[in-house]
Amino acid sequence: MILKISLSILLIISSLFAMYTMFEIFGKTERRKDMDLLKKLHKINGRIFFIIFLAGAIFCIYYLSQSKQELSPRATMHVFSALSIFLLLMLKINFIRYYRQFYSYAKLLGIIIALLTFNLLFFSTGYSLVTGSLEKSSIENKIETPLFAKNGQSNVEKGKVLFQRNCSSCHYTDKKDFKRAAPGLKDILKEKSLPVSKKPATVENVINQIKKPYRYMPSFADLSDEEIENIIAYLKTL
Ligand code: HEC
Repeated sequence: MILKISLSILLIISSLFAMYTMFEIFGKTERRKDMDLLKKLHKINGRIFFIIFLAGAIFCIYYLSQSKQELSPRATMHVFSALSIFLLLMLKINFIRYYRQFYSYAKLLGIIIALLTFNLLFFSTGYSLVTGSLEKSSIENKIETPLFAKNGQSNVEKGKVLFQRNCSSCHYTDKKDFKRAAPGLKDILKEKSLPVSKKPATVENVINQIKKPYRYMPSFADLSDEEIENIIAYLKTL
């Protein structure tokens, strides 16, 4: 999160600086003496911008590859802005380096890139700041609970992963509160009876619930015995 905020702030500073040097170079009627310096600064700043941008992109792609989730609309906007920025930047560099006929468009592209950058940052850091809590974004939460168990993990850890994938959308694990019809599973195997069916809270009855649920819960009969065993190992820790 801190990383995200500092990358964002750096990007904002960098694009503001780019705008400033650009306006100083092209915006004034009288020629400035320090034109060359400004141009140089603009160029260096562009490289810094690109590096920060790439670092951000690499982190995002890494998170994405870990979460294996459909993108939220907000994330979609974010990716859209990021891709546009990248393509426009490439275009701009090409106009300046090779296709000098289009040189005059470079200024406009620069402004669009800066605006898209603000847009991009609003849809990520700005959003989390505005909505108050600096809670970890959902993607960051996902990364702490990878979707696939790794070798060498204990049964409880594997069970936790399986639980996150199959059960956590309906069941709390840290409290007994109901999430709609589904009871929270804290202390599920420590109580005397199961919360809804009131059957004795035994491992057999929980396995039974997973395979042939009592009422509205979908069946997880396709989980292997070993997977169910791991989930039980995890449920015992709640
Ligand atoms: C789509 C929502 C949903 C999912 C996913 C889900 N459950 Fe449930 N679960 C429920 C509901 C609703 C109940 C209440 C009893 C019923 O309808 O069967 C319940 C009840 C339970 C109970 C208590 C049963 C009782 O007799 O009181 C246990 C234990 C349980 N679920 C474990 C799991 C486990 C383990 C998983 C993952 C493999 C899971 N649930 C996935 C909705 C869900």
